[in-house]
Amino acid sequence: MRLPAIGLGTWQNTDPETCSESVRTALEMGYRHVDTAQYYGNEEAVGAGIQAADVPREEVFVGSKVHAEKFGLAHEEVIEGLEVTLDRLGLDSLDLLYVHWPVGNYDAAETMPAFDELVDRGLIDHVGVCNFDVDLLDEAMDHLDAPLFANQVETHPLLQQDDLVAHAQEHGYEHVAYSPLARGNVFEIPAIVDVAEKHGVSPAQVSLAWLRSRDRVSAIPKATGEAHLRDNLDSVDLDLDDADVERISALDRTERFVERDGAPWLDD
Ligand SMILES: NC(=O)c1ccc[n+]([C@@H]2O[C@H](COP(=O)([O-])OP(=O)(O)OC[C@H]3O[C@@H](n4cnc5c(N)ncnc54)[C@H](OP(=O)(O)O)[C@@H]3O)[C@@H](O)[C@H]2O)c1
Repeated sequence: MRLPAIGLGTWQNTDPETCSESVRTALEMGYRHVDTAQYYGNEEAVGAGIQAADVPREEVFVGSKVHAEKFGLAHEEVIEGLEVTLDRLGLDSLDLLYVHWPVGNYDAAETMPAFDELVDRGLIDHVGVCNFDVDLLDEAMDHLDAPLFANQVETHPLLQQDDLVAHAQEHGYEHVAYSPLARGNVFEIPAIVDVAEKHGVSPAQVSLAWLRSRDRVSAIPKATGEAHLRDNLDSVDLDLDDADVERISALDRTERFVERDGAPWLDD
C-alpha cells in the first residue's frame, strides 16, 4: 500500500481539546493518515479525535513511535511501549509503529525483532523508522523479517535528502517527509514565494507539491486550525510544472530545523 500524499502531523499539538479537534476536523475534511508519538504526549487526544470523527476506523492510517527515553527500545520495552500506545489511542492495533530515533538503547539486533513479533501478533501492520541514515536503514532491514515500510525524516526544499529518497525508491518503502514546511521557514524563500504567486497559491502548498513530485515521498504537515488544514490538503490539486520543480530542486541550502543529541548526521 501507499500512503496518502498529505497526512497530519501533531507534534506540539499538546492541548488535549485543541489536538483532538484538529484530528477530528482533519479526518472529516478528508485526511486519512495521522502521525503521533509517545514522545508528543498527545496519544490520548489523537485517539479521542479519531473516535470523534465521522470516519470509520479502518479508513484511517495511524502511525506512532516508540522512544528510547519513554519505554525504551529493548525487546520487551518495545512490546510494553506499544501496548501502552494502543491503550492511550484506544485502538486494538496500529497501522504503523516507528523507532523514533536511533539513539539510547536502540540496537538493530534487539529492537527490530521486537517489531517483527508485534507484526506476527497482529498488533501492528507496518514497521517504520525515523531519523535513520542509509547505513542504519540497511542494518535495520538486515534484522527485520517484515518489509521496512517507512523512513520518516526531515525533508523540505531546504533539506532535500536526495540520498535517502533514492534509497526509499530503490528499496520500495515510503519516505515520509516530516517538518515539510521547514517549521515555517519555507514561507519567505524567494523562489517558493515566486512559484506560489505564479499559481495563486500559498508557499505551504508549493513546498508540499514539490515534495509530492518526488516518487515515494509523502508529507505530514502539522496544522492546528481549519484554514491551515485545508490549505495543506488542497496542495494535492496543485501541479507544479517542470520549471517550478527544477527551480525549487536547485535551492542550494542544507538547513535542519530539528536536532537532537546522538542524531546520525552529527557523525557525518
Ligand atoms: N519523527 C520525528 O523525529 C519528527 C520530528 C519532527 C516532526 N515530526 C512530525 O512531522 C510533523 C510536521 O512537522 P513540524 O510540526 O515540525 O513542522 P511543519 O509541519 O513543517 O510546520 C508546522 C508549522 O507550520 C504552520 N502551518 C501549517 N500549515 C500551514 C499553512 N498552510 N500556512 C501557514 N502556516 C502553516 C503550523 O501552524 P499551526 O499549527 O498554527 O497550523 C506550524 O506552526 C510533526 O507534527 C510530527 O508529526 C516527526
